[in-house]
Amino acid sequence: MSRSTSDVLVIGGGIIGLVTAWRAAQRGLRTAVADPEPGGGAARVAAGMLAAVTELHYGEETLLGLNVASAERYPAFVAELEEATGLDVGFRTSGTLAVALDADDRAHLRELHALQRRCGLASEWLTGRECRRLEPMLAPCVRGGLRVDGDHQVDPRRLSAALVLACERAGVVFHRARADRLSVVRGRAAGAVLADGAEPAADQVVLAAGSMSGRLDGVPDGALPPVRPVKGQVLRLAVPGAYAPFLSRSVRAVVRGSHVYLVPRENGELVVGATSEEMGWDTTVTAGGVYELLRDAHELVPGITELPLTETRAGLRPGSPDNAPLLGPSALPGLHLATGHYRNGVLLTPVTGDVMAAVLTTGELPEVARAFTPARFAPVGVS
Ligand code: GLY
Repeated sequence: MSRSTSDVLVIGGGIIGLVTAWRAAQRGLRTAVADPEPGGGAARVAAGMLAAVTELHYGEETLLGLNVASAERYPAFVAELEEATGLDVGFRTSGTLAVALDADDRAHLRELHALQRRCGLASEWLTGRECRRLEPMLAPCVRGGLRVDGDHQVDPRRLSAALVLACERAGVVFHRARADRLSVVRGRAAGAVLADGAEPAADQVVLAAGSMSGRLDGVPDGALPPVRPVKGQVLRLAVPGAYAPFLSRSVRAVVRGSHVYLVPRENGELVVGATSEEMGWDTTVTAGGVYELLRDAHELVPGITELPLTETRAGLRPGSPDNAPLLGPSALPGLHLATGHYRNGVLLTPVTGDVMAAVLTTGELPEVARAFTPARFAPVGVS
């Protein structure tokens, strides 16, 4: 059995765990991460849209504040990360166009536009013709759309790789094994027992294991986050030189009630996502999932069927009961949560790092994150 001690042990080395570890180490905390494959997780699948405005939903105005705060931090965050690592994370400020294909979609998008304006967000209504002028590959039937120049993109795989390197350079220790159990000593989180037999100890533990966060052994019921896996299937295509530029910005729509988006990268990759399925831990790529994504994407951009299909994958979003993350102290002393980011993990990476570093150094949640305390899910009468 090997024992090592740090100030902070982060369970989970996806982008949320990594950014937490990086920011904690930068503040002088001796930090370790437990994960068999740091830089893996849902970010290996995600498209990387930073869609604070175009993914606004009714009833999620509180979450909007956190999303916008994180979007505002992105340029400085990327500059700092790229400076620290020398790696390009594929941050692209080319904006997003959300389009409507029929009268129902158009009415829905008009309502979204009104909500965005009430929330003080910048978006511009375009006619179908104006949409096609911006993006000539769009289908002739596009009936109108919303131009949102502030919804950018980043490449989550490059972001993950850069965060791993930034952590290494900041002195974060990696335990490349799965955490099997939280160690609790005298009613306080004290480290973890890992699958390789190691038992790293820590003064504070952060549970940042994405969709797995809700099922770590040893976490008492009252502290276990109500997080569940929500499957998303995503496709990757290549845009050969002869077709470039295929799209110049992210394009999205709701087709028959399902979200479809196309995210073009500078390197010629085109990411098409995503299904949203309550299938437990299943990550099978299904014929039906691929068919639906291609069918809906083809309705938006018919030329897509000419492109080589290079990859199909499924990942698990960490869903929470109110679609918002759980950030900060749990009901178990010494255990903090950074999980439940659902559809917004990539977008919320910068603000999560800042918030968790503040919690770990001061014990207090900063104002921007107060509404996301795990205590909001505590049973009535328990605080
Ligand atoms: N934010 C995109 C998705 O979760 O599919």
